[in-house]
Amino acid sequence: MTSSDPPLIILGTGYTGRVLFRQAKAEGRIVFAASRVPEKNLTGIPPEQRLRFDLDRAGTWDAIPAQADAVWTFPAVPVDTACAFGEQVAPRLRRLVVLGATSAYDGSPQAVRGEPVDETAPVDRTIARVQGEESLRERYGAIVLRVAGIYGPGRNPLDWIRQGRVGYSHRFVNLIHVEDLAAIILQSLEDGVPGDTYNVSDGTPRRWSEIMDAAATRWGTGKPLPADPTPGKRISNRKLLAELGYTLRYPDLYKAMEELEQPG
Ligand SMILES: NC(=O)c1ccc[n+]([C@@H]2O[C@H](COP(=O)([O-])OP(=O)(O)OC[C@H]3O[C@@H](n4cnc5c(N)ncnc54)[C@H](OP(=O)(O)O)[C@@H]3O)[C@@H](O)[C@H]2O)c1
Repeated sequence: MTSSDPPLIILGTGYTGRVLFRQAKAEGRIVFAASRVPEKNLTGIPPEQRLRFDLDRAGTWDAIPAQADAVWTFPAVPVDTACAFGEQVAPRLRRLVVLGATSAYDGSPQAVRGEPVDETAPVDRTIARVQGEESLRERYGAIVLRVAGIYGPGRNPLDWIRQGRVGYSHRFVNLIHVEDLAAIILQSLEDGVPGDTYNVSDGTPRRWSEIMDAAATRWGTGKPLPADPTPGKRISNRKLLAELGYTLRYPDLYKAMEELEQPG
């Protein structure tokens, strides 16, 4: 990437957006961080790289330059507003990547049967954000990333266990480190097929019980209370690795958690 590449606009600069901003900048891209309240929420970003963007205020959409790449990092709702954005803004973008969630597959036959869930599994269109994502994908060529649980600095699964925010169950969980997610977003802007979907996870669905037993052995966390008895699902990342050719930086949750536990 060089500074002659299209500018990258991050629509919503929260947890993932901030890591994406840093990685894109390090690659030499011209990158803008957007927020509904930039003066309050983007204090760490140089003022000349901040944009005001609010999906609910169409007047702010004009700030997105023509031929830019845009990454949408919040739920694509309300659906009619997401569609209006698709109609008015998507045609002038080079690429649009929309972050969805793997929960879109809950209830799919593959998930219910406990089989690996790949991108051919049907998504639940009764969920408003899924309708928004699918409209942007089918009608306006957005690339949809169906993202597993995001973890990383400040979102440490060990803290979820210590704080009792997850309970002991044999339910499957699928995770992705935020540094991998940001790098995958950048790669999907280059190599993803417009209108296509890619699952984003580290490829190793784990049961919470397995993670908690390992955490108790390695980091001395106590055994939490029982919880959610539903089986969860096993997300496949085969397409991400095979078709985007992505190599995970954090394929091993336990090594990543070891790093998150290091002081500083
Ligand atoms: N957390 C997970 O484990 C997980 C798992 C799967 C998928 N996801 C999805 O992945 C995406 C990224 O997650 P994240 O945790 O990085 O998100 P996040 O920290 O909540 O960041 C998204 C940012 O978008 C902005 N935003 C929200 N609504 C907006 C609107 N209507 N118009 C314009 N900007 C708006 C907000 O910033 P301002 O307030 O500054 O505008 C917010 O900080 C989200 O879509 C999330 O649902 C998350």
